[in-house]
Amino acid sequence: MTLDLGVLISGRGSNLQAILDAIAAGTLDARVRLVISNRPGAPGLLRAQEAGVPTAVINHKDHADRASFDAALVDALRQGGASWVVLAGFMRIVTNVLLDAFPGRVVNVHPSLLPAFPGVSAQAQALAHGVRITGCTVHLVDPGTDTGPILAQAAVPVLPDDTEERLSARILAREHELLLHVLAAIAAGNLRVHPPASPATRSRVELLGVPGALGVETTND
Ligand code: GRF
Repeated sequence: MTLDLGVLISGRGSNLQAILDAIAAGTLDARVRLVISNRPGAPGLLRAQEAGVPTAVINHKDHADRASFDAALVDALRQGGASWVVLAGFMRIVTNVLLDAFPGRVVNVHPSLLPAFPGVSAQAQALAHGVRITGCTVHLVDPGTDTGPILAQAAVPVLPDDTEERLSARILAREHELLLHVLAAIAAGNLRVHPPASPATRSRVELLGVPGALGVETTND
């Protein structure tokens, strides 16, 4: 199944670039139908344009509240033909207006091993806490901040002399791999979402036949 992606960005767009490159290389069965930035002038918009992908700027500052901003996103994504949405460095919290329009089809990449260090500056949080291992997470989005069901994670070491920049760069390389790994699994029809058994529990998700942890030794016993 070819994935029709809408990609939401706020800045640099290196995760977007990784998606575009994988599609061009034939390693991801997807089309990027539309790239939307909430920030005019986001460098990622140029990356999309260079790949011939339609772009839109929908500035959250032009909207009175999150719901009306999300409604504008939904209109644009539907008109663009997106059926899955990737939050790739999109620095806004989304609401049920977006999530209900694309149920179970909104994916986020976050630069920590969730549930540790949600929200902004995850790499700085990791350094401040002195953790020896951090990483990145790709998850389905729910209305919380980086709280949705986890699809896959990759571990990244924190080195003794790390700066936020060095650690961020090391994590970012793994983000690109992990995001593509998950999107390829979704395109192959390998995502299963099991609804919560009761209102007190969460949805359980699994990627069939592919590991949910990259770069981690696993055993089959
Ligand atoms: C990434 O670290 C992503 O996890 C975080 O913001 C950064 C975006 O990078 N949410 P880019 O715009 O994809 O280069």
